[in-house]
Amino acid sequence: MKRIQIINGPNLNLLGKREPSVYGSQTFEAYFEELKTLFPEVELFYFQSNTEGSIIDKIQETGFTYDGIILNGGAYTHTSIAIADAIRSITTSVVEVHISNVFQREEYRHHSFLSEVCKGCIVGFGLDSYRLAVEAIIRF
Ligand code: DQA
Repeated sequence: MKRIQIINGPNLNLLGKREPSVYGSQTFEAYFEELKTLFPEVELFYFQSNTEGSIIDKIQETGFTYDGIILNGGAYTHTSIAIADAIRSITTSVVEVHISNVFQREEYRHHSFLSEVCKGCIVGFGLDSYRLAVEAIIRF
């Protein structure tokens, strides 16, 4: 069975409450249950942290044994060389996802330190971005 780790960064624990016009009104926990039923042939794991170091720890912990990592780095996407270095250091491929289309938003969201070290990026499809990322990892 393929094992896929989903990692959500800062403020993504507030999905459902946080800026629903941008991020929708569903909690990630509810969406995660739906996602698991869509892919019974895959083992999906979910981790969220508001702390850069904990995200790096989880990347290191899963990055040599899992079949894929789906990472929504939240705002760390646009700031974190440390998370980019963690992705460079592991052997598991990482798919960068964003719920919103960051390119339609403020200019400071247009640059990602993570994109160049990720296998690919899925941006702007709401929570469905995660389903598309799982599909991509299954097809690697
Ligand atoms: C986000 C986009 C980021 O710019 C923002 O800081 C987030 C969420 C997204 O999923 O659309 O926290 O990663």
